[in-house]
Amino acid sequence: MEDSRLQEQIEYYRARASEYEATALPKHADGAKGAMAREWENARRVVHALPNYAAILELACGTGVWTRLLAQHTEHLTALDAAPEMLELNRANVGDPRVNYECVNLFEWEPTQQYELVFMAFWLSHVPDARLGAFLSRVRRALKPNGQVFILDEPRGTKNVIPTIDNTQARTLDDGRTFNIVKEYYDPEELCERMTQIGFTFVEISRGDYFFWLRGGRKDK
Ligand SMILES: C[S@@+](CC[C@H](N)C(=O)[O-])C[C@H]1O[C@@H](n2cnc3c(N)ncnc32)[C@H](O)[C@@H]1O
Repeated sequence: MEDSRLQEQIEYYRARASEYEATALPKHADGAKGAMAREWENARRVVHALPNYAAILELACGTGVWTRLLAQHTEHLTALDAAPEMLELNRANVGDPRVNYECVNLFEWEPTQQYELVFMAFWLSHVPDARLGAFLSRVRRALKPNGQVFILDEPRGTKNVIPTIDNTQARTLDDGRTFNIVKEYYDPEELCERMTQIGFTFVEISRGDYFFWLRGGRKDK
């Protein structure tokens, strides 16, 4: 996967920031879309029910859909994203002094601190398979001993699949501009195996028709 595709992905989210929440969140109450919205709400309840942590790191925080919830579970939340427009909206939407924002390209990121919880929602599927191992190793290094990672995303076989060619999706914005971005629908079980090899332990995976989430611990080798 060339760096230019990863750069285009950042440009896409920078341009999409203002329309992100209107287009990304499932909000229909019935039919197939209703089932998706119910799974989404279920994931929100799971995040809402997380315990409190001394410090949380949120990767690819976007406009703050999950930042709002996470901020209720810690006094120190660090939220990273590569799109300044996303960070600006997040700050305006969440408005919480417990959150520190940093503009960071996660393909160049090296953790300089460790956290009790590292959280990412709808980010891992934008990490190309060839970079997955290195990325997850960095996530593991960002965890304190006995810390946990929480990953929420769309699994392989999701009912909401958007056509992909060579793990690339063409996405069009309201203004008609089209961007090609990475989309990898990872299989949660396979992910689990790969993460175990890197040094994670797994406590929980939940897979629905549209979304999956997993919580894994850091194994101390
Ligand atoms: C699908 S959105 C998810 C946002 C948020 N986590 C949510 O669930 O609403 C993907 C996010 O990844 C960010 N992003 C894209 N490329 C990135 C990169 N290389 N490094 C850091 N963030 C990136 C985008 O700006 C966007 O906010």
